Amino acid sequence: MFPVPLLLPLLLAPGSAAAAPGVTARTLAPCYSADLRPAAGSLVSAVGCTVLLTAPELRGSRAVSWEYRAGSEEGVILSYGFRQPPNVSRLYENRSTFNESNLSLQVVLQQGDSRLYRLRAQEEATTWFHLHVVEPLSEPKIVGNSLVKAGGNTKLVCNVVQGKADAYWWKKNGELLVGSERIQFVENATLCIVRASISDSGYYTCVVSNAVSQNETSFLLKVHHSANVVLPVVLTCVIIGLLAGVIVWCQRRENSCGNFW
Ligand SMILES: *[C@@H]1O[C@H](CO)[C@@H](O)[C@H](O)[C@H]1NC(C)=O
Ligand SMILES: *[C@@H]1O[C@H](CO)[C@@H](O)[C@H](O)[C@H]1NC(C)=O
Ligand SMILES: *[C@@H]1O[C@H](CO)[C@@H](O)[C@H](O)[C@H]1NC(C)=O
Ligand SMILES: *[C@@H]1O[C@H](CO)[C@@H](O)[C@H](O)[C@H]1NC(C)=O
Ligand SMILES: *[C@@H]1O[C@H](CO)[C@@H](O)[C@H](O)[C@H]1NC(C)=O
Repeated sequence: MFPVPLLLPLLLAPGSAAAAPGVTARTLAPCYSADLRPAAGSLVSAVGCTVLLTAPELRGSRAVSWEYRAGSEEGVILSYGFRQPPNVSRLYENRSTFNESNLSLQVVLQQGDSRLYRLRAQEEATTWFHLHVVEPLSEPKIVGNSLVKAGGNTKLVCNVVQGKADAYWWKKNGELLVGSERIQFVENATLCIVRASISDSGYYTCVVSNAVSQNETSFLLKVHHSANVVLPVVLTCVIIGLLAGVIVWCQRRENSCGNFW
């Protein structure tokens, strides 16, 4: 080795070293429903879980640093050399553990840790590793009327409170709900029931999921014939109609599922 190439890894653009070694990472149990298998190249994990980053032996590994990159921002997570205790960046302080014997790094994940990571030694560095950190979903909230008159239309909206859902589905009394002419799913999160009948009464569950979690919540819907809800509904419509001059809105509401028709 020439003296100049020793400095080159510091200057080289990431990925330009063709056969550079790579980082392997895995999520440690317990962690919601995140995949716990080791991965090379990239990994999806969850806020609050611990990830273990390992790297093969590098040339010049008496002094190493774990580094991150996010867009044009780069930084050192931790630097270690010559058996002194590692220096840890404030960003990862109190939540990372460095193993001095195999140079691996454990990090308890926070939101914002979706970054590129690599281990750099004096003479070479690994390729960048993509870590995607997803927020687990809390219980969603179902918004809708719990008391509905038979023959009317109603809708239940499932709102995700924390995190971002990739998929939504509905169950009624524990059984998967399938769409039909009367049962419609609109914009993933909304369940429309057209011309509700007494048999539509029951527990409706909205299930949400993303790459690392699944959560759900239930809602009791009662459909009834009773005439005593007609009067308040009519009164409300009349009052709203009088106030806003949009009686049309009330009539449409009787025959459609929200604004989706
Ligand atoms: C750790 O930080 C101290 C003080 O900033 C510095 O003198 C030392 O060289 C650093 N050690 C490593 C391995 O970077
Ligand atoms: C880490 O813990 C120390 C000691 O408890 C505290 O002083 C420091 O502020 C903590 N750092 C971060 C980034 O939370
Ligand atoms: C550090 O890594 C070595 C080798 O993989 C392992 O035997 C040891 O238990 C680890 N130490 C800690 C504190 O995790
Ligand atoms: C659902 O979210 C609640 C918080 O809203 C949480 O306590 C619970 O553990 C979550 N359930 C699952 C299966 O992740
Ligand atoms: C509904 O799902 C489709 C495809 O899965 C997605 O493109 C769209 O953004 C989702 N809409 C909402 C409101 O989440």
